[in-house]
Amino acid sequence: MSQETELLELAVDIACEAGQLAHRRRSEGVAIAATKSALADIVTDADREVELLIRQRLSRERPDDGFLGEESGAEGGASGITWVVDPIDGTVNYAYGIPVYAVSIAAVSGQPDPEHWTALAGAVFAPALGELFTAARGEGSHLGRERLAVQEPTGGAGALLATGFGYDPATHAGDLARLARVMPLARDIRRIGSAAIDISYVAAGRLDGYFERGINPWDHAAAGLVLQEAGGRIGGPGGRAPSTTMTIAAAPELFAAIERALEADTGV
Ligand code: IPD
Ligand code: CA
Repeated sequence: MSQETELLELAVDIACEAGQLAHRRRSEGVAIAATKSALADIVTDADREVELLIRQRLSRERPDDGFLGEESGAEGGASGITWVVDPIDGTVNYAYGIPVYAVSIAAVSGQPDPEHWTALAGAVFAPALGELFTAARGEGSHLGRERLAVQEPTGGAGALLATGFGYDPATHAGDLARLARVMPLARDIRRIGSAAIDISYVAAGRLDGYFERGINPWDHAAAGLVLQEAGGRIGGPGGRAPSTTMTIAAAPELFAAIERALEADTGV
């Protein structure tokens, strides 16, 4: 078995256990435990408990690997592999009872920074939807057992695009201005509320493209590999890696069109 497949099997196993825990906690009721960067940026006890479960299982089963998680931060490892984890991506949906949230677990090699890492395996599990997106580097990506392949939008009606708006009200004017620039490419816009699900949906052809400012490495690490292994592209403008500045995800031609539309940005 390749190292990538071995890492993916572990990612899937842990994502399923973690997703079931999140789902169970949701059915018991959810309270917001704290706010983070802004009033709208929340964390629930379930986010913390789920991340702890993932972290403990990884340190038991792969003690030499590093860890980078949304809720509990980073810890270096000796093996050159780091696990990049979002325990619940879509926490606001989760808190409101919208069943669109996911556990996202990726294994990357190299420096644990999207500019430098190579993603090896990724699992995005949406427990309330019963859907699992997976990818192992060089071995393709899947939704359940179905192999995924992206396609450029055709037919002239425009692309079904998704985006998001960060939690900081100070950035909303800029986000809306960028959306207005990209809008001529769109047949319609979705704001799904989980970047990991947005990017996985591009891989599955449920969306044509996605762009968002302000997302973090754990939001896109696993889904980005799912998309790349389906033949799609994820990155920032100008050939850069995805970053908090801007992340674009789409089939290659649409990626370039979104990038051109965003370049018209006047710096709002
Ligand atoms: C958020 C979601 C959301 C995106 C935010 C992310 P969280 O992650 O992915 O769709 O718009 O930028 O922070 O806070 O639910 O883990
Ligand atoms: Ca997230």
